[in-house]
Amino acid sequence: MCGIVGYLGNGNVYDILIKGLHRLEYRGYDSAGIALVNPQGALGIYKTKGKVDNLEAYCVGKDLTAGVGIAHTRWATHGEPSDTNAHPHYSEDGEIAVVHNGTIENYKVLKDALVKHGCKFHSETDTEVLVQLIEYIRLNTGCDLVTAVRKAMKKIVGAYAIAVVRKGDPDTLIAARQSSPLVIGIGDGETFLASDATPFVEYTKEAVYLKDGEVAVIRRGEPLKITNLDNKTAEVDVHTLEMSISELEKGGYPHFILKEIFQQPGTLRDCIRGRVINNGDTIAVSGIIDNKEKFLKARRIVIVACGTSWHAGLIGKYLIQDMCHIPVDVEYASEFRYSNPVLTSDDVVIAISQSGETADTLAAVKIARDMGAFVFGISNAVGSSIPRETDAGCYIHVGPEIGVASTKAFTGQVMVLTLVAMAIAQLRHTLTQEQLSNLGHAILQIPDAVEKVLKLAPMLERLSLTFTYAHNFLYLGRGYSYPVALEGALKLKEISYIHAEGYPAAEMKHGPIALIDQEMPSVIVAPKDHLYEKIVSNVQQVKARGGRILAIVTKGDKTIRNLADHVVEVPPMPECLSPIITSIPLQLLSYYIAVNKGKDVDMPRNLAKSVTVE
Ligand code: AGP
Ligand code: GLU
Repeated sequence: MCGIVGYLGNGNVYDILIKGLHRLEYRGYDSAGIALVNPQGALGIYKTKGKVDNLEAYCVGKDLTAGVGIAHTRWATHGEPSDTNAHPHYSEDGEIAVVHNGTIENYKVLKDALVKHGCKFHSETDTEVLVQLIEYIRLNTGCDLVTAVRKAMKKIVGAYAIAVVRKGDPDTLIAARQSSPLVIGIGDGETFLASDATPFVEYTKEAVYLKDGEVAVIRRGEPLKITNLDNKTAEVDVHTLEMSISELEKGGYPHFILKEIFQQPGTLRDCIRGRVINNGDTIAVSGIIDNKEKFLKARRIVIVACGTSWHAGLIGKYLIQDMCHIPVDVEYASEFRYSNPVLTSDDVVIAISQSGETADTLAAVKIARDMGAFVFGISNAVGSSIPRETDAGCYIHVGPEIGVASTKAFTGQVMVLTLVAMAIAQLRHTLTQEQLSNLGHAILQIPDAVEKVLKLAPMLERLSLTFTYAHNFLYLGRGYSYPVALEGALKLKEISYIHAEGYPAAEMKHGPIALIDQEMPSVIVAPKDHLYEKIVSNVQQVKARGGRILAIVTKGDKTIRNLADHVVEVPPMPECLSPIITSIPLQLLSYYIAVNKGKDVDMPRNLAKSVTVE
């Protein structure tokens, strides 16, 4: 959470930083701020509650000339969203300014000690402790700023990515990281830094991912210098970015989320490409082929993830158990990490994370590796922390997802999990070649099937009007459709702020059925699968209690059509592939309901795309 941008060069510092903040706004939008050091050395700090647009309005008429600058868009962890708590934070003497992404766990102890030494604090943030500590060390030991940063970092427990500038020095930018992402862009006579590469991809394709415990010193006219906290020089490992600028724009859609929903035929094609080969007869997942011993001997698979990625993980459990007969546990990473997990070297852990930066999932990965398990990552953001911390893995290749509510990443994750399950089944011979080929052929048809489902958008837009003013929803499904129901409910909650519960349809009679009345619509995911007859009974139970029903059914379904108030028909699909198809009408439904309600669908309140705090 929180987006950081920094720039040192001869370009328009303010414009570059503001544009960068807009790109990073998906990471948090409680407040925004900027610190600029002008060529004469004056340090100007401008910050305000709310989105980057507010900051821009606030900056009108200010001195915005600069040689170096840092900027921040916040997702508050310590202290409410307010002007005062907005970053950048500065030392009491006004000498240095810092932006920070992460949390300082021992901030209270440090703050108490600094207060005892006479420091005065203005904000409630943990970040202010950091900046005051750096300045305290600098003043009291007489060291230079970089050394003070290193010394301060050694005293800090927690997660941080920081950028630091100093009054009087328009030629230096300092950065450091521990557990929060930070990437440096090396341009021609200019250097960028940011929480991800999106703020600078149009200026340079050369990127250096800072590693944990590293401090970067960017000086005008000098090459980038990276050291560790003991001042030992570290390697500057330059990567070439493959991202293009058009991927970061709305491309004619009113919202990123709608663009991302409609991109799914293409993103699924990218996800499958090179992995379903020989006309669908062979599955090639390199991370599995290269580590086949681990997957051959695996006695158990544990999937760890959060949010939407956890829902994809739940589908992964059904897929792997069905195809490979290996027991699978699916854990919320935040629970797993504190549950004294029992893992052995015969376990494979699969960590799923779109951003590759989710703090709980990253911590779960580290724990699993320490315990000797083989850890396989499924991520979208290339070069992010989880792919770097895992033993092997697989990217979903759906391109940058900007909408805070995940859509194309979910279907990409489910697709990759399907391929992972098939690749393991291929290795362990738990599916026949005929079964594998049938599935492989069906997978190659999925992008076209998704295109057909997207043609239902106008119909879902009309349907959404019927449901916009409901206060509660129930989403029901069984088997593979149960996680789809959970994900459908999450999508609605996230972007329309309507309360929705996802439930296994058969569990409904153990409690939630009491809620059913005319006021509470049920969205029932009921494609033709081996549980179809069972879910028909559940539909009848809702109907018998006067509930309104919207059902997602397989094309041609007559039974549920006769029971439900509304049906949305999707193309027939093998059962294990149905989630990719049935989840799409639910994404569209949530989108249109949220738009009808006038909500900010790309940046829903209180959320952030990349949850880098616990
Ligand atoms: C998705 O719509 C959510 N905003 C959220 O639940 C998300 O899936 C979760 O925070 C995990 O993110 P990750 O995939 O980047 O780890
Ligand atoms: N802890 C800092 C704050 O609350 C940064 C938050 C974050 O990175 O999300 O301002």
